[in-house]
Amino acid sequence: MTESLLYSGKAKNMFQTDDPEIVHIHYKDQATALNGKVKEKIEGKGQLTSHISALLFNYLTVQGIENHFQKELENGDALVRKVKIVPLEVVTRNFAAGHFASRFNVPMHKALKPAVHEFYFKSDSLDDPFINNEQILALEIADKKTISQTKEEAELINQKLINLFDQIGITLIDFKVEFGFTSQGKLLLADELSPDNMRLLDKESGKSLDKDVFRQKIGDVRIGYQTVLDRLNNKLIAGEN
Ligand code: TMP
Repeated sequence: MTESLLYSGKAKNMFQTDDPEIVHIHYKDQATALNGKVKEKIEGKGQLTSHISALLFNYLTVQGIENHFQKELENGDALVRKVKIVPLEVVTRNFAAGHFASRFNVPMHKALKPAVHEFYFKSDSLDDPFINNEQILALEIADKKTISQTKEEAELINQKLINLFDQIGITLIDFKVEFGFTSQGKLLLADELSPDNMRLLDKESGKSLDKDVFRQKIGDVRIGYQTVLDRLNNKLIAGEN
């Protein structure tokens, strides 16, 4: 099998497989912050993010949320449907944290009701700026239907993930998702779903189980990621329910 590199990002490499509709993803043993300005090699992190992502995509599939995920390979890489990514990061927030807490000067983890949905324009050179609906339309980044579909889908994903994480003692603070169009023009949830892209707090200890541990240099991210993976495995694979 000859695979050509399609894309090399901060957290993963993507390769074209022999099937034009299928892409092979390899998650890197790397953590980045501040849009790649801070970077560190972390042995074993790629496998952790890949396994967590696979479990969450499969869970969402069972819950009726279609997505690009096809299967996890034996070496921990993944095969996904090829999509053309909509250049928008869709962030959903249930509790204040990160940029939201600092921008509006609200206490960390203040409950946000209703949940807040925000768009950011995916552009490394512009540092992924916040963007509103009219700006998206005027800049022809996406149309009205895509804006409303992605926002509605993000809220549905939010409900499903809150419910799952609740059952394994974890609070979903916020998360980022991306969507893409298949060659048939179908909009699908894409990218990855892991603690690299969501904030997760252990309900009991209140400790971060996500990339904030790396961003804030307060420990080894792999410990939290492993906790998330073990609890998801127990719940979803070992048939705890
Ligand atoms: P923020 O508070 O830094 O805006 O982040 C909100 C959520 O989105 C958090 O779970 C981290 C995630 N996120 C990404 O996955 N990629 C990004 O580039 C940014 C800015 C946030």
